[in-house]
Amino acid sequence: MLEIDFERLAAVSICFFAAWPLVRRLFQRKVWKNGSRKAALASLLLLAYATLIVATAVYAPMALWALALAALIGISLYFWVTRDNFGRRRGLPPGSLAPASPAKASDQASLLKQFRKHGPVFKVLARYQPAACVVGHSAATELLTSNADKLAAVPAAYNKHIPKGFLRYMRGADHAACRRKFQSALPPSLVQANEADLRALLRERFASWDGPVDPAVTSALFAMMVRLFLGIMPDDPRAAKLRAAYGNIAITDKVHAGGDRAANALAEVEEVLADLAGRPAVGGGTETVLGALLAGDASALDDPTVRRNLIYMLETAHRDVSGMIVWVLKILSDNRPWADQLRAELAVPGPAPVDGKGRGLADRIILETLRMERSEYLSRKAASDVQIGPFNIPKGWRVRICIREWHRANPAFDEPGTFNPDRFLDRTFERTDYAPFGLDDHRCLGQKIAADIGRMFLEELFGTYDFEVIRDGPVEFGGSHWQPNRAFQIRLIPATPAEASIAAQ
Ligand code: HEM
Repeated sequence: MLEIDFERLAAVSICFFAAWPLVRRLFQRKVWKNGSRKAALASLLLLAYATLIVATAVYAPMALWALALAALIGISLYFWVTRDNFGRRRGLPPGSLAPASPAKASDQASLLKQFRKHGPVFKVLARYQPAACVVGHSAATELLTSNADKLAAVPAAYNKHIPKGFLRYMRGADHAACRRKFQSALPPSLVQANEADLRALLRERFASWDGPVDPAVTSALFAMMVRLFLGIMPDDPRAAKLRAAYGNIAITDKVHAGGDRAANALAEVEEVLADLAGRPAVGGGTETVLGALLAGDASALDDPTVRRNLIYMLETAHRDVSGMIVWVLKILSDNRPWADQLRAELAVPGPAPVDGKGRGLADRIILETLRMERSEYLSRKAASDVQIGPFNIPKGWRVRICIREWHRANPAFDEPGTFNPDRFLDRTFERTDYAPFGLDDHRCLGQKIAADIGRMFLEELFGTYDFEVIRDGPVEFGGSHWQPNRAFQIRLIPATPAEASIAAQ
């Protein structure tokens, strides 16, 4: 009869248990997204570890005990380091540094729950990095501004293609000079000055609307930003060249964003820019971002930092606005009465009604969507120890300013979990209450563009169509944002001929 050696079995179990957090992580689908090499390497290591344990158990049982002891020490250390109170005597904030369990990783309210449990400053492990989370815009602004020399944004992979870096990641005098240039290239009147073309582009897209929402909106937004930045419409042969090139510099492609493929594509976009700069009138005169940039400094494109900032700004801008619009559609599909109210207002001939701040319902829907869902967390890295209240954030840690969480916990908002665009009726909130576009001197330069395009999108859509959801699923974490499920799909239903003709007037 087979005899079971329970002691050996216990030693093997301890060894396997020590590897459990890694096994659990590798079972998460998102770890394998973009064909992750790290995940493949971790799997190989895990396999080697399992082989070592089995081989040791069979051929060297005494060594197995040494392995089990090392595993036991590892497990004890893990529980020590991941308990909520770890490091409190050294001034570390409360909260666990354990890797997120699958349940936590798929819970959009996870950080909000930790804020409620631990208070406005707590620690987490974010992408294997210890991070201090800060909830509350006042304290966060104070932290960012009084430690501007110690807290810098962590550059994304594409940053290496820009000599002095992308504006978001620049600092000091370089940042101030580059920011000034782009601030004047993104005037508040930009969208209005290009309204006819942008609305025509939207109508064309809605007429052939198909497939999941995200790619459809992203592609429409790319065409709109190419028009807004460079004055190029889709029927221009250069539009196809830009589409192909931008396909290779997508910032969402974490594997290739910093590589040669992107470098070659950048050279192709630069050819188009050189062509446009030689004939600015073709680029839409001063009414495009490029035109305004050249009007301020005719040789602006000779500076590769400015040139590449322009290229990547078009890329990030179209994705940011598209992300917002996908959320707007999702939220309106979950809150139909607001979509119906908007349709009813747009069906009445004449300009849509506005409040005392000059905002219509479409504007308020955008503001409320940004508050609830499309508020990025701001991420920085501590170059040296940083103090926040009684807590010490050690050098090398990430600092995560939880904008969305404060929007959902701030007492300035009644029933913050309820979608209510009219909380913005005749009301503007302070930046310490509401800040979807950032808090410090890196605040968004495209806020007005995003708001104007968002309103235009809603007016064109609900002035002519109704919609129904034909596919949906749970919200997902897309790497830096929570987003509606990739399968989310809507069908556009033309309004009655009477409504449609009223809307067209
Ligand atoms: C809904 C859409 C958008 C959202 C939610 C958004 C959000 C933000 C946030 C939160 C920041 C600050 C990042 C930080 O402090 O680390 C930022 C910076 C920035 N945004 Fe936006 N943005 C949007 C659209 C746009 C558009 C359309 C443009 C350009 C046309 C734009 C250009 C910029 C630039 C250039 C910066 C960096 C400014 C600097 O570092 O000085 N954004 N954005």
